[in-house]
Amino acid sequence: MNCRVAPLPEDGLCTHETVALPEAFYHLQHYSKETVVHAWLCENPIGVDALTWKELPTPQPGAGEVLIQIQAASLNFPDLLIVQNKYQMKPPLPFVPGSEYAGVVQAVGEGVTHLKVGQSVACLSGTGGFGSHTLAPAKLCMPLPAGFPAVDAAAFIITYATSHHALIDRGQLKAGETVLVLGAAGGVGTAAIQIAKAAGARVIAAASNAEKCALCTRIGADATINYSQDNLRDALKALTDGKGPDVIYDPVGGEFAEPAFRSIAWRGRYLVVGFAAGPIPALPWNLALLKGASLVGVFWGDYARREPQANAAMMQELAQWYGQGKIKPVIHHTLPMAQLKQAYEEMGSRGVMGKLVMVN
Ligand SMILES: NC(=O)c1ccc[n+]([C@@H]2O[C@H](COP(=O)([O-])OP(=O)(O)OC[C@H]3O[C@@H](n4cnc5c(N)ncnc54)[C@H](OP(=O)(O)O)[C@@H]3O)[C@@H](O)[C@H]2O)c1
Repeated sequence: MNCRVAPLPEDGLCTHETVALPEAFYHLQHYSKETVVHAWLCENPIGVDALTWKELPTPQPGAGEVLIQIQAASLNFPDLLIVQNKYQMKPPLPFVPGSEYAGVVQAVGEGVTHLKVGQSVACLSGTGGFGSHTLAPAKLCMPLPAGFPAVDAAAFIITYATSHHALIDRGQLKAGETVLVLGAAGGVGTAAIQIAKAAGARVIAAASNAEKCALCTRIGADATINYSQDNLRDALKALTDGKGPDVIYDPVGGEFAEPAFRSIAWRGRYLVVGFAAGPIPALPWNLALLKGASLVGVFWGDYARREPQANAAMMQELAQWYGQGKIKPVIHHTLPMAQLKQAYEEMGSRGVMGKLVMVN
């Protein structure tokens, strides 16, 4: 069997550097016979039920690779899609899902200079995280400073990088402005609340139930809207004295996009982050004209690839903010790695607040 490490996905999960990933393979002849690894294997991408927890021999890192003993791996939205063959990246079969994880370097391959055996790292390689060990390209691993626990590190890169790039770079958010965060209790939503607060903005968090709204308040939102029961436009009018939010952060799409855009302030910036609800909204363009507003696309992965230095500076700032306690991943709960199917079920049924993290 050739169990492959997938190449860098289209939506970009590049962190440390942005060199396109050469396809790296777990070649059978490179396996060590001593250690056994376990991993969730996707041999047929027809859904979570088809994943199997298998024993595999420990692979030896090739040139530019490291072997990581995984301590924690978080679930991200693409992890749901990739095992159903619905994600833009289609890894060669079989593959181990798990885009983002943290652990300890166990072995380094030829030419790896910035990582050492025993070093704690976070890694965003697109696949490989849902197991006990994985091979990863060293250039995609971020060395972790002391005091950065694996559970937080595994839940950090995608959500905070996306939300920082969205709000600060694409949205040009300024202190004193008002931000509306839709899907605010989700992974990127909770990060967006914290980053907007760190930037000195006022945050209105919108979510689908009272428990999610309460979480948003606990992590710093100044006001909340339960969009399952409140009229979004009326609530926004009331909370902004009729002015509307300056920046709207939208990872959800679907039915709330148009009412939200209609509510935006003069010179507002509407950040198109994702479509968790499914349908991709269509907007009448006159709405942008009437408000002098901008519809702004956010594609953090490509930003990281195309503007590596700016991305590295941003990651450094985020690590500093973490150290200063300004941001901290909201961990819904952790589950043993063997219970991945339960985790998928929770995320797929909209039950997760913040991040769900698998641990070994
Ligand atoms: N553009 C980028 O660079 C980038 C980077 C990372 C992620 N994303 C995208 O951002 C989106 C959110 O990612 P995430 O990791 O934050 O996901 P998540 O943790 O599952 O949060 C998504 C939120 O969307 C809301 N939602 C509304 N309808 C939903 C539905 N039918 N199914 C699931 N959720 C629904 C839920 O909040 P309520 O229940 O409160 O409505 C949920 O909390 C995804 O589409 C992802 O692909 C984009």
